[in-house]
Amino acid sequence: MQKKIKGVICAGGMGTRLAPLTNIMNKHLLPVWNKPMVLYPLNTLIRAGVTDIMVVTGPEYAYQFVRLLGSGAAYGVNITYRIQDKPGGIADALRMARDFVGGDDCAVILGDNIFDEDFSEAFGSFMSGATVFYKETDNARAYGVIEIGPGGRVLSIEEKPQAPKSNLAQVGLYLFDCQVFTIIDSLKPSSRGELEITDVTDAYRIAEELIAKPVTGPWWDVGSFSGLAAAAEYFSKK
Ligand code: G1P
Repeated sequence: MQKKIKGVICAGGMGTRLAPLTNIMNKHLLPVWNKPMVLYPLNTLIRAGVTDIMVVTGPEYAYQFVRLLGSGAAYGVNITYRIQDKPGGIADALRMARDFVGGDDCAVILGDNIFDEDFSEAFGSFMSGATVFYKETDNARAYGVIEIGPGGRVLSIEEKPQAPKSNLAQVGLYLFDCQVFTIIDSLKPSSRGELEITDVTDAYRIAEELIAKPVTGPWWDVGSFSGLAAAAEYFSKK
């Protein structure tokens, strides 16, 4: 049987960069122009053809996600939920989706990453290994940074490096085959105490099973006030 791509939206975390807003609300439910933030990554997955989606979030505001998204029927998709009791990083959130993904592939999107792009081709042509996406940034130290060599080969990926080797941010959208869960099992927490998604993508790079593709449209990390304002401005004019 042909493999499917299941979607995973990582919507946990503390959202400390957006305090005090996040003192009373999960970051991914904050408004971005006229909608709660999480509807943008949901739409990115739907636009790419994904129909089975799991939302991983913390316990505090889980019911708000259920109120907003329900079964997914209103969006023409199936949505299920898993609770990450404590924030432990993106790779830890993804681990929660292991049974849901099973032997299929998965598209993982961070709930605070907003695009205006149709990724169906990248999703449709995904075979195995991992695909990451990158975009030029003038603030590389805030992101996972990808260094690309001749022929598009990924030479290095580093999480929030002091001295970035390029101006290419690894954005919060990833395609993985089901090996990803074995890789996550082998991870050790980083210096910030989290299981880092960058360690996952780097493992695929070392195994020479990583492809990097550019994001051609706009991209915002709306986990910061400047990203939040810029995305709201863009969608207010669309
Ligand atoms: C995360 C990832 C980072 C990526 C970024 C995109 O960082 O760890 O590699 O570039 O999302 O938004 P965080 O925002 O969780 O610090």
